[in-house]
Amino acid sequence: MCGIIGIVGNQAVSPRLIDSLKRLEYRGYDSAGIATIEGGKVERRRAKGKIRALEDKLLSEPLSGLVGIGHTRWATHGVPNERNAHPHTAGRVTLVHNGIIENFAELKASLIHQGRVFESDTDTEVIAHLIDRQLGLGDSPIAALKNTLDQLTGAFALAVLVAGENNQIMGARRGSPLVVGHGVGEMFIGSDALAVGPFTNKISYLDEGDFVVIDHDRAQIFDAEGTAVDRPIKIVSASAALVEKGNYRHFMEKEIHEQPESCQRTLGAYVDALTSRAIPTEGLDFASVERIQIVACGTASYAAQIARYLFEQLADLPCDVEIASEFRYRQPALRATTLAVAVSQSGETADTLAALRWCKAGGLRTAALVNSHESTMAREADFLWPTHAGPEIGVASTKAFTAQITALTALAVTAAVQRGRIDAAEETRLVKVLLEAPRLIAASLQTEDAVRSLAIDTAKARDVLYLGRGPMFPMAMEGALKLKEISYIHAEGYAAGELKHGPIALVDESTPVIIIAPQDSFFEKTASNMSEVIARGGRVILFTDEAGAAHAPQGARVVIAPSSDPLITPLIMSAPIQMLAYFVAVQKGADVDQPRNLAKSVTVE
Ligand code: F6R
Repeated sequence: MCGIIGIVGNQAVSPRLIDSLKRLEYRGYDSAGIATIEGGKVERRRAKGKIRALEDKLLSEPLSGLVGIGHTRWATHGVPNERNAHPHTAGRVTLVHNGIIENFAELKASLIHQGRVFESDTDTEVIAHLIDRQLGLGDSPIAALKNTLDQLTGAFALAVLVAGENNQIMGARRGSPLVVGHGVGEMFIGSDALAVGPFTNKISYLDEGDFVVIDHDRAQIFDAEGTAVDRPIKIVSASAALVEKGNYRHFMEKEIHEQPESCQRTLGAYVDALTSRAIPTEGLDFASVERIQIVACGTASYAAQIARYLFEQLADLPCDVEIASEFRYRQPALRATTLAVAVSQSGETADTLAALRWCKAGGLRTAALVNSHESTMAREADFLWPTHAGPEIGVASTKAFTAQITALTALAVTAAVQRGRIDAAEETRLVKVLLEAPRLIAASLQTEDAVRSLAIDTAKARDVLYLGRGPMFPMAMEGALKLKEISYIHAEGYAAGELKHGPIALVDESTPVIIIAPQDSFFEKTASNMSEVIARGGRVILFTDEAGAAHAPQGARVVIAPSSDPLITPLIMSAPIQMLAYFVAVQKGADVDQPRNLAKSVTVE
């Protein structure tokens, strides 16, 4: 969602703020703005739409300060326009904000009652007014910030400039991430390590409730009570190269192609290639776990649903998967012997985090399977299960999805070992199968031309149905999600067996039906569903393997991925399905990496 950058620098700050905002684009936004302070005076420039529009504005109305803040806004309160774009100003205070102030309506009413005039529809503006009011009461800037934070309910991260305070920026974090970057004679704050990546790789992660003031040389950090605290400085590896597109047209395309390596890197954390054994998680014995409860959103929840088959079949370990936004308000009946697992690329998704916290508060052991290893979930869970996909910039998740499946599959093998459901020979066989996955994913990328040739027709469709059985059912839902989010074509993922119970009514010659069916124990049954579609004039596109292709019904268009052991078939089928969505979106001229209305990290409910 919204991205934040703040720089106390010693060279013109506008171009650097813009550079950083471009790195935050991947989080999703619909307007952008910056403010700088010079000679004690704060000036801001804001624009609706892409950062390009803000750059155009800066060409005609440049800002020359050395200290400034910047923001990409994903609208929550108030439409995306220049008036609602951040930074927001009230009196001496100018600030940017990520998150939602839940009690903003009552705060705003009271501020209006005190004679304050608002210029935007945002919840953010109340924070600027509150800090300015505190300054007017004689508070120092940091006291004004603290006293304001105490009045706010909700989740947020802030960066604040105060007119007259030339060489400092204040920041705060509650619920939304914020990092401090340490430079040489310069300091930074930003939403994540990527935001400050061009300037420094020395990062301090603020804890929940922390607030901070940075100047040229140091960061003074305080906890929620206002006590000065130290947060360690870490050297991060988010090198610039990882966030460049290289020779690819889009980040999504690059990330699809990175999957052999991201799978390989992730495997390295869970299986030992030399001994062909699974690596147990320190301090966790799956034999002591009676049930797994996975919470996740979107693509991460589909990765979890695929893993459910494995935990149950391989390890005889009951596993529930629930969408976090439902789970957190359902008051589920949980038991202390249940292991709660949050699956998340960002580790910051508000609903997943809330569900994880709910489980933790209920006394459950918790694990976070996350791609951002310094994220809130990573830090709050009892066990950190990292995925090593590297920074994922395209809003549509691809390599993080397969990294999640990779890690969860390996963990299911570990669970099977620890629960005595498989012997050492079977463990070795399964680990060897897993180790083949990177090579087979690379081979499945070779379907690129075949998939591209399907895009022209698919791009003309108004609706697309995806069908699958067993682990290919969540794959079907993931395929449909990928297509709708980047190409804006309506798509549904269904269990193939459900076809007759409703969706078959949609089948006609203009609705492509994409069937994901490798040759496995479900194939025969799915083949019958294919025939039912074809008999009704439907256009079948079959994603399968060599053996499945031999049984493809006449009239079906077929994409043949490499054959694999069922343990890793979801990994092998992913790339062709992702590429179809990608090529359809390109065919439609859509904004692949930043689809409309979407945010990379959904840090509000
Ligand atoms: C879809 C997509 C989203 C995310 C979801 C959860 O391509 O990216 O559905 O999977 O917002 O995000 P994380 O994994 O960061 O919790």
